Amino acid sequence: MTKTVKKAVFPAAGLGTRFLPATKASPKEMLPIVDKPLIQYAVEEAERYNIKEFIMITGKSKRAIEDHFDYAWELEENLKSKGKAAMLEEIRRLSQHQFAYIRQGAPLGLGHAILCAKPFVKDEPFAVILSDDIIDPEDDLLGKMLHIYDKYQATVLALERVPKEEVNRYGIIAGEEVKKNVFKITDMVEKPKASSAPSDIAIIGRYILTPDIFSVLEKTPPGKGGEIQLTDALKGLLHNKPVYGYLFNGKRYDAGDKFGYLKATVEFALKNETVKDEFREYLLSAVIPRLNKEL
Ligand code: UTP
Repeated sequence: MTKTVKKAVFPAAGLGTRFLPATKASPKEMLPIVDKPLIQYAVEEAERYNIKEFIMITGKSKRAIEDHFDYAWELEENLKSKGKAAMLEEIRRLSQHQFAYIRQGAPLGLGHAILCAKPFVKDEPFAVILSDDIIDPEDDLLGKMLHIYDKYQATVLALERVPKEEVNRYGIIAGEEVKKNVFKITDMVEKPKASSAPSDIAIIGRYILTPDIFSVLEKTPPGKGGEIQLTDALKGLLHNKPVYGYLFNGKRYDAGDKFGYLKATVEFALKNETVKDEFREYLLSAVIPRLNKEL
């Protein structure tokens, strides 16, 4: 029987060490890009594909995430009394979905974080969205992946070509292109050295998983960095099940990294209705001339 994807898991229990000290007492997922936290972009992406149940894997100092998606009575009353209807609507919309929160006791790795979602996912296929990988809302990455899932009823990973010197930051695949930009994956390695990487095609932060992954994760020992790696479990899954990948050619920002975060901020500010004109004018009149002078 074919099943559609109605649930999304958002792992948000990492330590965010690349963003310290900002992430010491507040979660990386609450860092804003212009006026929305990373986790809200991720939730809105899932919403666009009719996903209605959101499962957050949280850890230490993650209360702010729960509060962000919770009903905010005082704030709503205040916005109402000031006649700020549009903002009130935006705030309300967020608290109307079904959210489940699961605490990952210790940050034992992305694979372990996903295993924590098992009691809520049960036997359904589900999407995994890493909110620090921001996909431009104009790109249809998750839509393409859901389409491939519908066709093959199998695991689908988001893939992207990365420069050789960056393969040691990602899970890297080997595979055969079965259709334009669709790969049947034959092998995967977590964070290989450039010299031993099977390709330059990296797994990025979107996955459509089937519930088969849970039994494999339960048997997956800690791998690179002493963490239970999702890539290792997916490699284990390959022994029994096909795994596909979609090669993404759109815009992605690694907002878990300072430079990626800054790039996302500039690009999103240039598209934001309330600041784009002023911001563009500022870059053109103050920043770019100064940088040109320094050259
Ligand atoms: P990262 O590799 O970005 O790790 O995790 P991190 O801890 O968040 O950040 P750095 O590297 O220390 O700066 C990828 C995703 O997996 C989640 C993170 O929250 C992030 O969304 N994650 C990672 C967990 O939920 N639990 C873990 O144990 C590890």
